[in-house]
Amino acid sequence: MTRHFLRDDDLSHDEQAALIDRAITLKANPFGHQVLAGPQAVAVIFDMPSTRTRVSFSVGIAQLGGYPLLIDSGSSQLGRGEPIADTARVLDRQCSAIVWRTLAQSNVEEMAAASSVPVVNGLTEDFHPCQILADLVTVKEHKGELSGLTLAYVGDGANNMAHSYLLGCAVAGIHVRIGTPASRLPDADVVSRAEKLAVRNGGSVLVTQDLAAALAGADVVATDSWVSMGQEVNKATDSSSSGAASRFAGYSVDDSAMAMAADDAIVLHCLPAYRGAEIAASVMDGPQSVVFDEAENRLHAQKALLSWLVEQAATKGSSTAATKGSSTAASTAGFK
Ligand code: CP
Ligand code: NVA
Repeated sequence: MTRHFLRDDDLSHDEQAALIDRAITLKANPFGHQVLAGPQAVAVIFDMPSTRTRVSFSVGIAQLGGYPLLIDSGSSQLGRGEPIADTARVLDRQCSAIVWRTLAQSNVEEMAAASSVPVVNGLTEDFHPCQILADLVTVKEHKGELSGLTLAYVGDGANNMAHSYLLGCAVAGIHVRIGTPASRLPDADVVSRAEKLAVRNGGSVLVTQDLAAALAGADVVATDSWVSMGQEVNKATDSSSSGAASRFAGYSVDDSAMAMAADDAIVLHCLPAYRGAEIAASVMDGPQSVVFDEAENRLHAQKALLSWLVEQAATKGSSTAATKGSSTAASTAGFK
C-alpha cells in the first residue's frame, strides 16, 4: 500500500526518528541523494497562500534531482470543482508524489485514497505535519535528543499547529503541553490519540489554561499566529486585531513567559509571526529564538520525507513507473 503523510501519527516513532536523522544528513550534503533524478515531477498544489512551504518544496524537489510542478488551485480545474479523485488519477500518472495545501483534512484524505503515489499534507486546518517534522529536526539540532524533553505550545490550542505538536511530540516521546484559553481547546480526539501515543513512546500530554503550568521548566517554547488561514472573519480580524487580542490575552510568548521556561529554552514559531501579538519582538528576535533555523529545516525535513516516501513506493511497486525517470533503488543506497 502506498504510504502517505497526512498527519503526524502517520509515522511510527522509529520512522520519525529515521527521517529526522535523514534530514540532518541531507542538510550536510544537499545534492547527495538524487532520488527524483530524471527529473521526476512532484505536484505541489496550493489552495492558500504560502512562502515557506512553496519555497522549501520547490528547492527540495530540485535538490533531489526532480521537477517541482507548482499549481495554484485557483488556476486549475481542481479550483473549479473537478473531483479530487479525478485530479489524483491524472497527477499520479505523471508525478511521483503530490503535496497539497488545502483547508479540509478530508480533501487530502480523498486525494490519498485515489492516488497511487504518495500524498503529503502541506497544511490543512487540522494539521501541519511537515512543519512539525522540521521543528523536531530543529530541536534535535539544538538539544541533541528528543525523548524526555518538554515542549510548551502557547496560543491557539484548536489550530493545526497545536494538533500537530500534540501528535508529533507524542510520537517522538516529548512531553507536550498546550497552554490555551478554554475557548480554544484542541480537538478531543486528537488529545486522546496523543495521550495513547505518549504512553507508548515515553512522553506525556497536558492541556491547560494555566500558562505557568504549561511553561514551567520547558525546554522548547512554541507559538503560532492567533488567527489561522480560513478563520479570518474579515480583513480586520487578523492576529493583531482586538478580537484575537482579547481572546488570547495573557497567552503571548513574551519575556515574562520566557522567564517561566528553562534558562536554555529555545523558541519556535512556524511563521509568519505577528510581533506584539502571539510573540514579543524581543523574544522573536532574541538569542533564544531559532525560528529561522526552523524555517530552513522545512527544506531538509521535506527532502527526507519525500525521498523516503518515493523509495517506499518504489519498493512496494505501487507507483506508476512509466514516466518516472531512472534507478530510484540504485540512488537510494546508503539510507536506512
Ligand atoms: N510555516 C509555513 O507553513 O509557512 P507558509 O505559510 O509561508 O508556507
Ligand atoms: N496556523 C497557521 C499556520 C501558518 C503556517 C495557519 O493555518 O494559518
